[in-house]
Amino acid sequence: TATRATTPAPAADPAPGGNAAGAVLAEAARRRTFAVISHPDAGKSTLTEALALHARVIGQAGAVHGKAGRRGTVSDWMDMEKARGISITSAALQFQYRDAVVNLLDTPGHADFSEDTYRVLTAVDAAVMLIDAAKGLEAQTMKLFAVCRHRGIPVITVVNKWDRPGKDALELMDEVAERTGLTPTPLTWPVGISGDFRGVLDRRDGTYRRFTRTAGGATIAPEETLTPEAAEAREGIDWTRAQEEVELLAASGADHDQETFLAGYSTPVLFASAVSNFGVAALLDTLVDLAPAPADRPDADGGSRALADPFSAFVFKVQSGMDAAHRDRLAYVRICSGVFERGMVVTNSSTGRPFATKYAQHVFGRERESIDTAWPGDVVGLVNAAALGVGDTLFTGSPVSYPPLSTFAPEHFAVARAMDTGRHKQFRRGIDQLESEGVVQVLRSDRRGDQAPVLAVVGPMQFEVATHRMEHEFHSPVALEPLPYTVAVRTDATSAAAVAASRGTEVLARGNGELLALFRDKWDLRSLRQRSPELTLEPMVAAQLD
Ligand code: G4P
Repeated sequence: TATRATTPAPAADPAPGGNAAGAVLAEAARRRTFAVISHPDAGKSTLTEALALHARVIGQAGAVHGKAGRRGTVSDWMDMEKARGISITSAALQFQYRDAVVNLLDTPGHADFSEDTYRVLTAVDAAVMLIDAAKGLEAQTMKLFAVCRHRGIPVITVVNKWDRPGKDALELMDEVAERTGLTPTPLTWPVGISGDFRGVLDRRDGTYRRFTRTAGGATIAPEETLTPEAAEAREGIDWTRAQEEVELLAASGADHDQETFLAGYSTPVLFASAVSNFGVAALLDTLVDLAPAPADRPDADGGSRALADPFSAFVFKVQSGMDAAHRDRLAYVRICSGVFERGMVVTNSSTGRPFATKYAQHVFGRERESIDTAWPGDVVGLVNAAALGVGDTLFTGSPVSYPPLSTFAPEHFAVARAMDTGRHKQFRRGIDQLESEGVVQVLRSDRRGDQAPVLAVVGPMQFEVATHRMEHEFHSPVALEPLPYTVAVRTDATSAAAVAASRGTEVLARGNGELLALFRDKWDLRSLRQRSPELTLEPMVAAQLD
């Protein structure tokens, strides 16, 4: 049975010199906050489960993962998720590994929710890019990787499913180099071709870590470490081939370099089989040894908030109606500075209003646990957070605002109308709620009026979530009427009239007043740009266009 995550004990000597700032710095230094990014099916849920297993958060693999055939699910919240077997919602898992406190932020697997993933990536200090050994870099991997590059997030690459026939290891390295522009610097190298996974050569000390299987991968795979001589005696040609390939890597300069890794020019690579739990300990060690701890964070005014400054955090996810047993609204915040203590009253910088943090929790799937103290890098779920929206900054002491979270350019648009016009209040409340949670973007114009807002999404499944929740949670079923646009760019008040006058376009306003110009396709946009180069027509998120 699953055991619950327990809050890691504070560092043995959290406060050298006994001061509060020292405690914050010591706790921050041992935090590692990261997310796993991958194309669906590369093994993200399996790896998450394996990481949790290694950290002994759960007794047996299967408690986190929710696919058919496995035991109970904790991270599948909504009925829809269960029906589809995908993870729509995000959560954070915290565990202790060696002396470090690891925060693993979950990201949705489906491309339709890439905007959620993007917001999660604003809250991490590193990312693990998981690739399927047989498929290499896939569309969604590339998109998420572009986001990491855009945000300067260091990336650790894990080649997964090496137990299954796939590509050649050196070819995969070439693919990573060519398609991401990052220099891959393998830390481990596979012994045995994909599909015949014997183990890995650990490049740091030249030893052989032999792969052993356990029944169904349900328990931690015991790793046996052998000397190079013993490895050669055991694996013969497979070992010598691995050694030769590693020499090639060294000759081509593919050695780990901490500076270029942190700067986003190189990526350490590990080979793994998440389903057998092999390579998972190496990943945790790499995270602890190489991934960056939380650092001072740039604010919206061009300054920065030091780790030891008073408490500050920002909301990267808001969620409600997750579970019939807990029908409330939860805001996930990432702590950037200072210490969080449950019950403290903080200020929301976007409204100037106080917010009392009476109920604060670690949340992973259905598991909730009250949290009393948290430090930079940690994620806290604030309950009863009706007053908090995605992107809000919370602080105590000197005021701070973190840069607003940029939104993805939506690609699907539909007019929403209440099916029961007598329930306008519920309709309005539901739409506002979905907007502040970032489930959909809500666009309005004087011409369309308040009763018929335009919902804008990156992936059509977001529409399904919105209509489902409007009906079941807000009791105001909606009808969606699709609009023919596929492209949205930012415009401004000066350009708006000219843009709107152009054929097949429309200008609408987001909740924050920003104006978006919608086009049927990119050719319409291109031709307007050519005809009227003076108009402001700017991409929404640069990374998305890569
Ligand atoms: P995702 O979250 O990235 O979408 O992927 P997920 O972990 O659900 O894994 C997708 C499929 O790949 C699963 O099989 C899973 O068991 C399998 N898988 C993950 N890691 C490995 C690995 O290292 N080796 C091999 N051989 N398979 C791996 P499934 O049949 O779709 O689901 P399930 O019923 O087995 O869970």
